[in-house]
Amino acid sequence: MYQDAVKVPIGDWAKKRFTSMTEKDFLRHISRTNSKFGRNVSNWLSRKKVYPHNVLVFEKEHYSEPSNLIRLATECSNRNHSAVFPIELPSWFIKLFTKRGDIVLDPFMGIGSTALASMLLGRNFVGIEIIKEYAKEARKNIKELRNLR
Ligand SMILES: C[S@@+](CC[C@H](N)C(=O)[O-])C[C@H]1O[C@@H](n2cnc3c(N)ncnc32)[C@H](O)[C@@H]1O
Repeated sequence: MYQDAVKVPIGDWAKKRFTSMTEKDFLRHISRTNSKFGRNVSNWLSRKKVYPHNVLVFEKEHYSEPSNLIRLATECSNRNHSAVFPIELPSWFIKLFTKRGDIVLDPFMGIGSTALASMLLGRNFVGIEIIKEYAKEARKNIKELRNLR
């Protein structure tokens, strides 16, 4: 895993939070929902980067890609499919699990969002799609993105 590729700056909230630490912050706090998740705030003190809260809706300060990258992919995508991923979703996992030049396999390709994300991130891809129309649409989207670059 390439965790550093997807972690984001911890954010300004941390400066304020870490200057008002209490004794409790040095103990493991168990979730009140009994979810078995716990946290110890003091473990975060030396951290500069963390996982984002949400892999789809990044806070402005957390964008690490050139700002035109996601727009470009969306503009060239035809949405003729009922279950299209937002491009940020495969992008996040591709960065976490692969490095440039690796091959990404999507066995349920739809109209090719994962392939587009792979291309934008410098990965190769193999896609499989059972419905001809979607495969055709995927090829079209891939070709459009290739022509834009
Ligand atoms: C949730 S959609 C994926 C959408 C895709 N991520 C996108 O953004 O366009 C799942 C896709 O898997 C395809 N699919 C389902 N069973 C399949 C199979 N056995 N082999 C290949 N593709 C299959 C469906 O036709 C559908 O397009």
